Amino acid sequence: MSLVHRVEHPLIEHHLCAIRDKTTRPGEFRSAVQRLSMILGVYATQDLPTKPRLVATPICDATGKEISVHVGIVPILRAGLGMVDPILELLPEAAVWHLGLYRNEETAEPVGYYDKLPLENAPNVALVVDPMLATGGSIDLVIRRLQQWGVNEIRVMSLIASQPGIDRVERDFPDVKVYVAAIDPELNDQSYIVPGLGDAGDRIFDTPQHG
Ligand code: PRP
Ligand code: URA
Repeated sequence: MSLVHRVEHPLIEHHLCAIRDKTTRPGEFRSAVQRLSMILGVYATQDLPTKPRLVATPICDATGKEISVHVGIVPILRAGLGMVDPILELLPEAAVWHLGLYRNEETAEPVGYYDKLPLENAPNVALVVDPMLATGGSIDLVIRRLQQWGVNEIRVMSLIASQPGIDRVERDFPDVKVYVAAIDPELNDQSYIVPGLGDAGDRIFDTPQHG
């Protein structure tokens, strides 16, 4: 059974249009990324384990449930930063562990530049956030690093993935759950997703490289 979930929801379709539209300004782009991340985050956490918790309401005692695992949010710098705040809204007790990678412009291979993960204290569940999953090279590196750290369960959240990138993750990491808002058919000759949205980091941070 595939662990790739393309989340279908009218709000997702609506906000996807905003991030794909090249006339969307950075402020609205960031807001749409946040809305999409929050919706995806609800789905990506729907089967987190819980344990019972007794609380005293102003009226009487009540038994509820609370999340029973330690969750770490792992944004891939830079663009993944745009997805952190909405996930922290959902999981305010999660830790945030940053990993910095950029793609070499000629080869599209990921190059690591920031990694301060400690030797121990790996979370039970890592929620990796990055708006784009293109060739899958960056996510491959991050999953391997988190496995090496000792994370038992890794979940990936991306707004737009390419079909080749999804195929690669499914083939190489069949037990990793992936939550995406869209799967686009292909990559262009510069390894950008088609139709995609362009460069997510540049659009979030308003740092256009071209035009
Ligand atoms: C983008 C994106 C992913 C990566 C996806 O980052 O945010 O991290 O490319 O591509 P891949 O699946 O082919 O590896 P980028 O390298 O542009 O860096 P940035 O976030 O700093 O802009
Ligand atoms: N990174 C992006 O930001 N966009 C793509 O289409 C591919 C990689």
